[in-house]
Amino acid sequence: MPSNALPPGPKGTLIAGNLRQFVTDRLDFYTHLAREYGDLSSFRFGPFRRVFLANHPDLIEQVLVTDAKHYIKHFGARNYMPVLGNGLVTSEGDFWLRQRRLSQPAFLKHRVTTYAPVMTDLTHAMLAGWRTGMPINVHTEFGRLTSAIALKTLFGLDDAGDRVLFVEKLRTAFELLTARFAKLVNPPLWVPTLHNIRIRRAVSHLRKVVDGFIAAGRARKEPGNDLLSRIVAAQDEDGSRMTEAQLRDEAMTLYLAGHETTALTLTWSWYLLAKHPEAERKLVEEWSRVLGGRSPTPDDLPNLPYTDAVLTESMRVYPAVYLIGREATKDLELGGYRVRKGYTVFMSQWVMHRDPRYFGPDPEVFRPERWLDGLAKRLPKYAYFPFGGGPRVCIGNTFALMEAAILLATVGQRYRFTLDPDAVIELNPQITLLPANGIPATLQER
Ligand code: HEM
Repeated sequence: MPSNALPPGPKGTLIAGNLRQFVTDRLDFYTHLAREYGDLSSFRFGPFRRVFLANHPDLIEQVLVTDAKHYIKHFGARNYMPVLGNGLVTSEGDFWLRQRRLSQPAFLKHRVTTYAPVMTDLTHAMLAGWRTGMPINVHTEFGRLTSAIALKTLFGLDDAGDRVLFVEKLRTAFELLTARFAKLVNPPLWVPTLHNIRIRRAVSHLRKVVDGFIAAGRARKEPGNDLLSRIVAAQDEDGSRMTEAQLRDEAMTLYLAGHETTALTLTWSWYLLAKHPEAERKLVEEWSRVLGGRSPTPDDLPNLPYTDAVLTESMRVYPAVYLIGREATKDLELGGYRVRKGYTVFMSQWVMHRDPRYFGPDPEVFRPERWLDGLAKRLPKYAYFPFGGGPRVCIGNTFALMEAAILLATVGQRYRFTLDPDAVIELNPQITLLPANGIPATLQER
């Protein structure tokens, strides 16, 4: 029988619970919970929201895999529904399953590899504008590049239109929605508060732009090789068409889920490499031996084990998605405790990936070599889970890993980044793990 008591956790205030600790520094808060209270701890978000933090691979597996059908996405994910709509990340139940089944074939490895030339070409286009001595922000550059790749592979779009404005509105919408997440009381979006009006304006702009992308894709005579055309074709075979609004939600979701995460993985990789010249030297040696100056094709990737170790390690140290959560749809058991219906379970990549039980005495240290002797096989499955797991595992993981490796090797054979000595790199954990002020650096041609 599960215990009706709550797992241990910090005392909070009567109304706000532990919201203040969360707002001050959420990464620190989760780490503290895990180290202080063990494999399962509990805290409160405001007066009513009970949250458990699962901090053991077996507990995470139970939530994501074994009991997956009794959990839905948590309130934090639903908070972004004004932007993501009812797309793959946020939808539930039979509706989600149908969309997932229809989308899945477009993400199979043999399909995804056909996008490699787009990735290489757009990277070369970026490099054509780079010069030694140029100051850049690593996060901005890779954000632009992965955005361009997403627009081309998703919609077949070469011309991104007013991308700068789009990205700005997106940032506004996400920041405003994230601010809601950390508040005690939130009037529904239809209430015309200044905050809500700003959210609605940003969302309406985004919708218009994505509708434009979809219309441009449809206007082309031949259905393209792009992901959206493939998903639409799958719908037609299935005999049921998505509504315009549904197509927009899926498109917005794939665009958002797909490009910022990969940009961050590359940004943090370059930051870590700039701080660890020995690892960078080994990487360059591998590229020169295997590729000799050319961009990798998907067939080259199995021959680049150090590149793979660098990406695996940077997603361990700075996971782009550092927390996922689920809400119980009925009373359940977890780690000997009762998870009541409506309770939320958080699982944090940030915390698990830095757990000394699995990553030795130096879990904070960036050391790609740790992956070279079969660590991935020895680890319990959910000690390392940058892409989540179970039925809702990231649909784009093959896409992301291929993109990250191609971009890293294509850029890294031409340039290295010297970090600005005065720059203070701080973490800004929003829905993804951002560098607060980007990563300012100067380009040096190799
Ligand atoms: C390094 C890059 C990426 C990381 C770290 C990442 C991480 C994740 C994680 C952790 C989840 C699970 C969320 C949860 O369980 O609540 C997820 C889901 C998802 N990701 Fe990714 N992702 C990446 C790239 C991509 C790409 C390139 C795409 C699409 C082109 C994509 C599309 C999605 C979608 C649609 C879902 C929702 C799947 C579902 O619920 O059925 N992601 N991602």
